[in-house]
Amino acid sequence: MSTPNAAGSLIGRRVVVTGADGFIGSHLVEHLVRLGADVRALCLYNSFGSCGWLDDVDASVRASIEVWAGDIRDAAQMFELVAGADTVFHLAALISVPYSYEAPASFVATNINGTLNLLEAVRRHDVRRMVHTSTSEVYGTPDTVPITETHPLKAQSPYAASKIAADKLCESFAASFDTPVVVLRPFNTYGPRQSMRAVIPTVLRQLLEPEATVRVGTLDTRRDFTFVTDTARGFAAAATADLAAGEVVQLGTGSCHSVADIIEAAGRLFRVEPTVVTETERLRPAASEVQVLLSDPGKANERMGWQPTVTLDDGLAETAQWLEKYIDRYPDPNRYHR
Ligand SMILES: NC(=O)c1ccc[n+]([C@@H]2O[C@H](COP(=O)([O-])OP(=O)(O)OC[C@H]3O[C@@H](n4cnc5c(N)ncnc54)[C@H](O)[C@@H]3O)[C@@H](O)[C@H]2O)c1
Repeated sequence: MSTPNAAGSLIGRRVVVTGADGFIGSHLVEHLVRLGADVRALCLYNSFGSCGWLDDVDASVRASIEVWAGDIRDAAQMFELVAGADTVFHLAALISVPYSYEAPASFVATNINGTLNLLEAVRRHDVRRMVHTSTSEVYGTPDTVPITETHPLKAQSPYAASKIAADKLCESFAASFDTPVVVLRPFNTYGPRQSMRAVIPTVLRQLLEPEATVRVGTLDTRRDFTFVTDTARGFAAAATADLAAGEVVQLGTGSCHSVADIIEAAGRLFRVEPTVVTETERLRPAASEVQVLLSDPGKANERMGWQPTVTLDDGLAETAQWLEKYIDRYPDPNRYHR
């Protein structure tokens, strides 16, 4: 296994984060600042001057990073963004499965062409390592669980197809040009700042209402949930671990919970007996639904020394506290976000 791209620590290293305005990206930026990295953060340009969740991080964090407004679909801009970087964390993507049914071309433009732009920039600059973000959705409903990195990939949604294509571009750049890219494949991540399209914030937001009624799609799909600060530590570990170009590492806890389990755990947290309503508009088409995602966390542990530290109960409590603080941003508890 090759070693030249391993690094002891990220102290003083220039790191670029795409998707820094998002849920995981904003936590990763905070973590990288704590580790002493010199962070350049890419936020999606908009005419409101908003930097997404980076507008909510501590003023000291914000003051210590360089913020760029831009778009990963712009190849020339990505070339400029990456110049001088030691490490590139590529998280920017369109990530909603339901929205990918409506706008698949946007997913191709952002997730595939955007990743190609980052790979071309990394290939042409002297970058030590790129960490590309995959997703467990690339497995579809698995043949066997727990899932290992060698499990076949199956596109059950346009989102999954676009992420598989992006992963394969990384694999091909590693093979063809020895581009120093590794693929980190998180299973479901949750925590403060996650959008309401995801099941955990949806359930918690609804339980903040006195009637304690929860409206969801399915109850029996199961996912492997990692708290976002653990995910951020996994990204930093992927930047410094001894991994070969093109290697894939999953990030998951090794246990999974159904939507019904999450509702039950959230009910315990709020000390309520939730009334559950299932709504068909929240369902994916049957063949597109992924029934279970459960990771084998062995490789992340062995190769990156990574393991999760936050229990589901503690993570739910922290997420609920955050939601209470930001409840004004989500005035309608029953609105279906996609
Ligand atoms: N949240 C999860 O459970 C999960 C699980 C597995 C993998 N992932 C992956 O992690 C990454 C981050 O996801 P997230 O949950 O933080 O989602 P998010 O939507 O909060 O973050 C994605 C960010 O990408 C930015 N972006 C979108 N299009 C862009 C463009 N054209 N140019 C520049 N920026 C653009 C958005 O502004 C957004 O802030 C994604 O690659 C996603 O596929 C997420």
